Amino acid sequence: MGKLLIFVATLTIAFAAPLEKTKVPFFKLLAPRDPFPTDIYPRPIPQNISLETIEQRLDNFDPSNLAVWEQRYYVNTNYYEPGSPIFLFLAGEWTITPYRLSYSLMHDIASEINGSLYYLEHRYYGESRPTPNVSDANLRFLTPEQALADAAHFVNFIRTSAPGAENSPIILVGGHYSASLAVWFRARYPHLSAGVWASSAPLPSVVDFDQFKVATGAAFRTVGGDSCYNALEAGFGRMHELFDAGEFDILTETFHLCDPLEPEDAAHFFSLMAEIYAILPQFEFEEFIASTCDVIVDGEGSIESIAYILENFIDVVGGQCLDIDYDSIIDAERQTEWDSPAVVVGYRQWTYQLCSQIGWFHTSGSPDQPFGDRFPADLYHAGCQAVFGESFTEARLTSNSARFNTIYGGLEPDVSNAVFVYGQHDPWSVLGRRTNLSDDATAIIIQGATLGNDLGPRHPDNPPALRDAKIEIERLILEWIDEFN
Ligand SMILES: *[C@@H]1O[C@H](CO)[C@@H](O)[C@H](O)[C@H]1NC(C)=O
Ligand SMILES: *[C@@H]1O[C@H](CO)[C@@H](O)[C@H](O)[C@H]1NC(C)=O
Ligand SMILES: *[C@@H]1O[C@H](CO)[C@@H](O)[C@H](O)[C@H]1NC(C)=O
Ligand SMILES: *[C@@H]1O[C@H](CO)[C@@H](O)[C@H](O)[C@H]1NC(C)=O
Repeated sequence: MGKLLIFVATLTIAFAAPLEKTKVPFFKLLAPRDPFPTDIYPRPIPQNISLETIEQRLDNFDPSNLAVWEQRYYVNTNYYEPGSPIFLFLAGEWTITPYRLSYSLMHDIASEINGSLYYLEHRYYGESRPTPNVSDANLRFLTPEQALADAAHFVNFIRTSAPGAENSPIILVGGHYSASLAVWFRARYPHLSAGVWASSAPLPSVVDFDQFKVATGAAFRTVGGDSCYNALEAGFGRMHELFDAGEFDILTETFHLCDPLEPEDAAHFFSLMAEIYAILPQFEFEEFIASTCDVIVDGEGSIESIAYILENFIDVVGGQCLDIDYDSIIDAERQTEWDSPAVVVGYRQWTYQLCSQIGWFHTSGSPDQPFGDRFPADLYHAGCQAVFGESFTEARLTSNSARFNTIYGGLEPDVSNAVFVYGQHDPWSVLGRRTNLSDDATAIIIQGATLGNDLGPRHPDNPPALRDAKIEIERLILEWIDEFN
């Protein structure tokens, strides 16, 4: 998910010469992620969780199109007693794993109320593959509307096939984009659920989402103080100066680029470096933001201190250099086979969703952020056109974005029995429902938290604000279940 910088995928070089450095394709660092912060506690091995499939229609809205495909889901019925509550976690732009059903707050609650747990993979991601390939023509079936209709059919399937489930209250859960889906599902199919827990749902479509970088900068200021923010801004300022002075060798070496930096790489280089910093308030815990601040403050914003976090991520994926070559990036995103690198990780598909309907481009349009001004919205529109064709114009996306907000209701979705949860540092919260919508659709902001912290299991080390949020989420869910029964 930290991956909203689009068209940055690069080809994996499968047969590198022995002396050549191991290249890290950008989509490996910025690929769609399951919104669950990196574990700080050991996870138990999932037990008795099975992987199943359900037959779905390719086009849920065309009665004459009878094409079908198999959608994957995990199910955990270890605690289930007929008629007890059912938790359904809708997946987003990533591959499903069994952990969600054995290691999560949702699991902890289900285990105490004889509940069962389901985790439904989103069409076109993981191994839920509705079409033989992801050609431009085939991707037209990749929309939230189709995904919601898949989920509706799935709920009906559970209701009619699991013992006693015709009377079970169903609680929807989601994280980030899939939290938005869960909210939209509750609004569109109110008869198919008892309530929705949405962790970090961005609700409106915004094409030029320049506030994302503002919120990212703010997270560093909140955690590390003005000294951290200023060092970050000074560091990016130095990078801009070196770039403008043509000192490409220094930048190439310091930022471990596989190929020498060139003048036309400005937009990619700066947007990617800024996006690396945005990984922290999304997918890491507050402590990691604090320790990164220590490094850049100690280094007085030197370019080496700015590059430190990048080295960290490159190490994690076992690479030695970063590939940001524009042509290979675009070429990788144009590949349409399921096993091509940018498709396996969901990068091409997610880029399609952004370019066709949603936008959410993390641009440098605002001056109120520390990352400079080299990646304006034009860059993103040009990327959409390079990957999906000339018809993907700014005008087309602007029009589709407005239509999207008309359909889903932006920050005022028509839902009851909903809880909107956001971490204080999560930059997506800017597009979130951060205040109570009504008495039965309330918001919780968790101080000190990043994206999706509330989804994790209960743990004695949870900070008080996180623990209190989990208690309130559980209280609401039990209330919706009572109301349903
Ligand atoms: C898994 O299933 C076995 C056999 O039904 C059962 O004994 C065991 O308790 C289950 N494990 C969990 C974690 O529920
Ligand atoms: C769970 O199921 C057990 C066994 O059927 C039952 O005794 C218990 O009351 C149930 N608990 C809840 C919370 O429904
Ligand atoms: C992609 O799949 C379609 C069928 O949906 C097929 O007609 C087309 O030839 C395929 N494209 C490629 C490049 O294989
Ligand atoms: C929002 O709703 C919660 C739960 O009902 C309540 O505790 C809180 O005071 C409300 N917040 C505001 C600002 O009204």
